[in-house]
Amino acid sequence: MLGNFKYSNPTRLYFGDDALSFLPQELSNYGPRVMLTYGGGSIKRNGIYDEVIRCLREAGKEVFEDPGVMSNPTVTKLYEGCSIARENDVDLILAVGGGSTIDYAKAVSVSAWCDGDPWEKYYLRMEEPDNRIIPVGSVLTMVGTGSEMNGGSVITNHEQMRKIGHVFGDNVMPKFSILNPKYTFTVPRYQMVAGIYDIFNHICEQYFSGEDDNTSDYLSEALMKSVVHASRIAVKDPENYEARSNLMWCATWALNTLIAKGKTTDWEVHMIGQAVGAYTDATHGMTLAAVSLPYYRHILPYGEAKFARFAGEVWGVRTEEMTQREAAEAGLKALEDWMREIGVVMSVKELGVTEDMLEGIADATFLLQGGYKVLTRDEVIAILRESLNA
Ligand code: NZQ
Ligand code: ZN
Repeated sequence: MLGNFKYSNPTRLYFGDDALSFLPQELSNYGPRVMLTYGGGSIKRNGIYDEVIRCLREAGKEVFEDPGVMSNPTVTKLYEGCSIARENDVDLILAVGGGSTIDYAKAVSVSAWCDGDPWEKYYLRMEEPDNRIIPVGSVLTMVGTGSEMNGGSVITNHEQMRKIGHVFGDNVMPKFSILNPKYTFTVPRYQMVAGIYDIFNHICEQYFSGEDDNTSDYLSEALMKSVVHASRIAVKDPENYEARSNLMWCATWALNTLIAKGKTTDWEVHMIGQAVGAYTDATHGMTLAAVSLPYYRHILPYGEAKFARFAGEVWGVRTEEMTQREAAEAGLKALEDWMREIGVVMSVKELGVTEDMLEGIADATFLLQGGYKVLTRDEVIAILRESLNA
C-alpha cells in the first residue's frame, strides 16, 4: 500500500427492504423545515413519494417541495433550488432519487448561502465551501453513481457546454442514505444497464492506475466480479432482489473513497464521457460505455501488466499460455463481450455525437495525470473518432 492517507466516511447507511423505517429517527436530528428534492416524477408513479411524505408528516415537518431535477442537473435548476432553500430557510434537504437528484441536493446545500456565483466558485474555480452548508439526506431510487455515500456533485452548464464534477469533502457528503433495493425495480432497463456500467467503470477508473501490490486492487476485483455476476441476473430478471441488492451495495462501495486509497486513480473515461454529456445530454453511464473500449485499447501498452491481471482475476481468462500482451487484449475482449451482453451503447454516434463536435468535445475534456498515459488533445479526438465509427 503506497501513499499517505486519511480514511473516514461520515454517511450513515440503512440498507434493505425495511430501510425506510429508519427515516423518522434520522429526521428527528434536524429542524422542522425540510426541502424535498426529487426528479421528473418516477417517485410519484411508483409510490415512493407517498411513503416519504407520510414519514415527513408524521415527524411534524414542514415540507418545501423542489421537484423537476433533470438527469444531468443544470446550473439553471441549481439557481432555482438555491432560491427555494434560502427563502424558506430549510434545515435539511431530503433528496429522493438517483445520482442526479442527490448530486443536485449537494450543490444546493453548499450554494444556497454562498456569496457570488456558485457555478464559478465551485465548478470553475473549484473552491471549497466557506459558508453555511445545509445538511443533505437521501433516499436512493436508482443505483450507479455512488452519490449516496460520496461528496461528488456533477452540474451541467449548457450555455458554456461544460459538465463538471466537484468532489466535496466529508462536510457535504449525505448525513444518511436509505438504500432499499426494491425501490430500483421500476428503473427503466436502459437506465439500469447504464447504471451497471457506471458502477463497473468507477471501479476501473481506480483500478487501472499504479504498479504496486495494493489491497485496493483486490477489493476492486471482488467488486467487479460481483457486478458482472449480478448484472447477468438483473438484465434477465429485473425484480431479482438478490441481484439488485448486490448491485446497490457494489455501487456504493465502488465510489465511496475506499478503493481509491493508495491509488493515483485515472478518471479519464469519465472526463471524456462528461464532455460527451455536455454536448449531447446523454445518459451518463452510456457516455462512459461508448468511449471505454477505444480508450482502454489506446492505453493498454502503457499498463499491459494490469490489463493482463484484469483478464485473469476478473474474467477468469486462462492466461498461462499467453504473452502478457495477448492476456491484456483477452481481458478487453471479455469486457467487450459482457458490455454487448448487457446491452450498453458502444458508439458515441448513438448518443448524438457528430464529426463536427469532436474538436469541441476534446476542448471540454480535462486531461488528468493519474492513469497509465496522459492523453493529448489529439489522442482524445482519435478515441472519440474510433467510438464514432464503431
Ligand atoms: O427523474 P425521475 O422521474 O426520477 O427519473 C429518473 C431518471 O429519468 C429515473 N429513475 C430513477 N429512479 C427511478 C427511476 N425511474 C423509475 N423508477 C425508479 N426507482 O432514472 C433516470 C436517471 O436518473 P439519474 O438520477 O439521472 O441517474 P444516475 O443515478 O445515473 O445519475 C446521473 C448523474 O450523476 C452524475 C452523472 O454525471 C449524472 O449527472 N454522477 C455523479 C457521481 C457522483 N456523485 O460521484 C459520479 C458519477 O460518475 C456521475 O458523474
Ligand atoms: Zn460515473
